[in-house]
Amino acid sequence: MKITVATVKPFAPAAVAKIKETVEDAGYEFELLEKYEDQGELIKAAANTDALIIRSDKATEEVIKAGGDRLKIIVRAGAGYDNIDLKAASENGVVVMNTPGQNSNAVAELALGMMVFGARGKFNGKSGSELKGKKLGIHAYGNVGKLVAKIARGFEMEVFAFDAFVPKEIIEADGVKALDSADELYSVCQYVSLHIPANDDTKQSIDYELLSKMPEGATLVNTARKEVIHEDDLLKLMNERSDFKYLSDIAPDKKAEFEEKFADRVFFTPKKMGAQTVEANLNAALASAKQIINYFENGDTTFQVNK
Ligand code: 3PG
Repeated sequence: MKITVATVKPFAPAAVAKIKETVEDAGYEFELLEKYEDQGELIKAAANTDALIIRSDKATEEVIKAGGDRLKIIVRAGAGYDNIDLKAASENGVVVMNTPGQNSNAVAELALGMMVFGARGKFNGKSGSELKGKKLGIHAYGNVGKLVAKIARGFEMEVFAFDAFVPKEIIEADGVKALDSADELYSVCQYVSLHIPANDDTKQSIDYELLSKMPEGATLVNTARKEVIHEDDLLKLMNERSDFKYLSDIAPDKKAEFEEKFADRVFFTPKKMGAQTVEANLNAALASAKQIINYFENGDTTFQVNK
């Protein structure tokens, strides 16, 4: 039985070594496909393995079908699994899992780092502002949102959150004010940090109506997914409001236009960096390997997302 790591954006070498050791100690064969440039290489890898560990790599229907009878499980080493065709996986008897929480701290630290970077005018030498005392809205309160709240409270920010799926008591137990709607969150908070997944309900949901509620000096921080932003609406709003900043770990499709029009008010990481720490790589990679082995050995489907 073979377990293949297929990642365009590689894990830290220490994380790869740890997966290899874990896989081989459990008596499985290990294969590595890194920095591949052609989707065909992923398809080929899928056709020759029993299990795949991927990151934001695109596990399309073609990839899943290429797995034939052999490919049994795909683990997304990370949180968001919008890059995997869940329907095709279920139809082809492939179990899909993620590794929730394993890279959350890295993403949360980046969200706060981007806030500081934005508040200080991207370190341009002019007087910037501080996060202390500012209102931060966390949209939504999952593993990353919770950690952003914790770190932001260390900065003495006033922290608010909205999550339709998390009971208010859970949010408020962390010293965070739980609000009733996204509308309220955006109306109250000068900073909003996005932590919603990209799905049919959320795609393009961060639109003009919502964003225009944000108070003077607004900053939107996106370490989630570009797809949740309504880019044309955001462009319109930033044209109208010279106080509005957008900082994102996932460059928008209209990156060039944003950068040309609002050079001082936007920042996009050159590559998605949220989960790109040695620690997060080690956590997510190792969890992936262990989950696959536990599935093969014991049928454990705890983290399955296509049930
Ligand atoms: C996630 O969903 O876990 C993060 O967005 C990290 O994605 P990456 O593994 O592609 O960096």
